Formats: sequence, structure tokens, C-alpha cells
Amino acid sequence: RAPQVVVVGSFNVDHVWTLPSLPRAGETRVGAYRTGPGGKGFNQATAAARADAATTFICALGDDAGGQLARRLADGDGIDLRAAHGDAPTGTAGIHVDREGRNSIVIGPGANASLAADFVRAQGDALAHATVVLAQLESPVNAVAAAFELAREAGVLTVFNPAPVDAELPASLLALSDVITPNESEFCAQLQRQLGESCDPERLAGLDDGDLHALCRRLLPHGTVIVTLGAQGCFVSHAPGRMRGDERAVYRVAGTPAQVVDTTGAGDAFNGALAASIACEPRQPFAGHVAFANRYAARSTERPGAAAAMPVRADLHSD
Ligand code: RIB
Ligand code: NA
Repeated sequence: RAPQVVVVGSFNVDHVWTLPSLPRAGETRVGAYRTGPGGKGFNQATAAARADAATTFICALGDDAGGQLARRLADGDGIDLRAAHGDAPTGTAGIHVDREGRNSIVIGPGANASLAADFVRAQGDALAHATVVLAQLESPVNAVAAAFELAREAGVLTVFNPAPVDAELPASLLALSDVITPNESEFCAQLQRQLGESCDPERLAGLDDGDLHALCRRLLPHGTVIVTLGAQGCFVSHAPGRMRGDERAVYRVAGTPAQVVDTTGAGDAFNGALAASIACEPRQPFAGHVAFANRYAARSTERPGAAAAMPVRADLHSD
């Protein structure tokens, strides 16, 4: 079966501490500890697969227990895993989650940093036959660029999630992206870096649609920008000529109410579900894909963990 969604990205073993409030500088705190599968790439691939897309995941793993975990879980979700092996250990993340389900995350890239452009190019069969190629920046920029170049040549839609917030993002990678999906801080970071524009993430959701649309058009003149706004849903801005039929250029999709326990991986849930919906339901208007991704992401926050918290499609039917 030809892949519908190919994800290029990271796998991490998440080490998670849950505590009443996020730790501050100088504090030693006590929290409940657990570990589980994560990494933005793997979370997104898991979401795409559980949202019923035939999914391929291209990544780099260490020769260790983390690498074995990735293989076992990919197998369980029917994900076609294309993993490079290096000497470095499998990637890790240290995550703090507070009482409200908010988090802060630090990653140790490990093997993810060794994902090579050549290895990605060697997966050209999958990339060229996909419907959507999805990537983030917990893997090297040139590996992601190699995937997007092959996708572009083959006319495959590229969706780029510009996370983590401190990743160096060259303009050339934006140029290869058809859709980008920053959250508020990632959107402001890129406005600052790409256009020298100052921007306050806390005030973004409050901007009027016209102003936000104008900023999106400057950041990605040729493509679609989806700014994810957490519980407030998201803002969508299309380039002229990218809409079909009577689709609108600018709109918001309201957030889905959720009994939040852990927002870790909610953005990944959104991205994986968006890619799956675009791939599996080609006749659906774009707003329908965004609404599905929104509902899917909300459900993912109701369970602890990242990849492990991704719902299956049937879990959404109660909405
Ligand atoms: O987006 C959440 C993910 O970020 C976690 O699973 C962690 O591994 C980091 O990659
Ligand atoms: Na979760």
C-alpha cells in the first residue's frame, strides 16, 4: 500500500515529572515520574496512523532499549518504520507537567541529530508516492530539506511544523513548505527571525483577523499558515489561489472543550491528524481537515503522555 502520510522526524524517550507547578530556577522539587514514547516526529506519525492514514516514519534511532521501543510501537500501530542507526543513543526528552496539564520540555537529540539527508533520499520510494510529507525540526534541517525537495519534485504536499521554537529555520525550507503550523511562540519567533518583526505571543490570539492574515501572508506568501492557539483553536490564512470552490482565505476554528490532563504532544496530535485528514479525505474542504485536527488534538490532552495518548478515530465519535 502506498503511504498516504510520510513523517520525517524524531523519536524520543520521554522522562516525565508531574508536579503542581512548573519548577523555577534554583528550585529542587518532587514530582511523580513516568516514562513513555515521544518525539515530535513519532507523536505525529502515531497520530496520523491512528487517524487511519497509511503512515511511513523516517527517523534515526540508537542501538538501545529506546530504539527497540520505537520498533515495537511502530509495529503495533502499523507504521512503516525507516530507521537509520548511529552510534548515538536514542533521543530523550525531560518534561515537566503541571496541575493544569501545561508543560515545559527540554530535548536531548541523541541519534535524531544524526539523521542524514542521504538516508532520507534513500526513502525516495515512500516520499514520492505519498500524499502528504510532514516534518518538524527535531531532526537536522538538511534531512528535512531533502525530504521536502523530493516531495516537491513529485508534487506531494509538504506540511511543516516549525518546532521546537529555538530551531534554526532557513528561508529555503519555508520556501519548500506548502502549509506551516506554528503555535503562538513559534509564529512570533519566525516573524522575528525571518522578517525582523517584533511580536508578542501572548497577544497574538487577540489580533484582528486582517492583521494576523497580513502577517501570515508576509511569512509564507505562497502557502497556508495555520497558527495553533491551544484551547482557543486555530487561525487559518491561505495564499490567494490556494483555496478551492468557495473556501475562505481567512478563518478561525474554535477550540474543542476537553478535560485536560496533559497537553504534551497536543500540537503533534494536530499535525498528524491534519496530514491524515488531507490524505484520506481529498474531497473535504480544508476547513474540515482543520476542524478534525482540532478535535483530535483536544482528545489527546485528556490522557497522560505523548504518543501513547493519541486517540483512534473511533474515540472521536462521542464528540
Ligand atoms: O511535542 C511533544 C514532544 O516534544 C515530546 O514527546 C518530546 O519528546 C519532545 O519531542
Ligand atoms: Na496527552
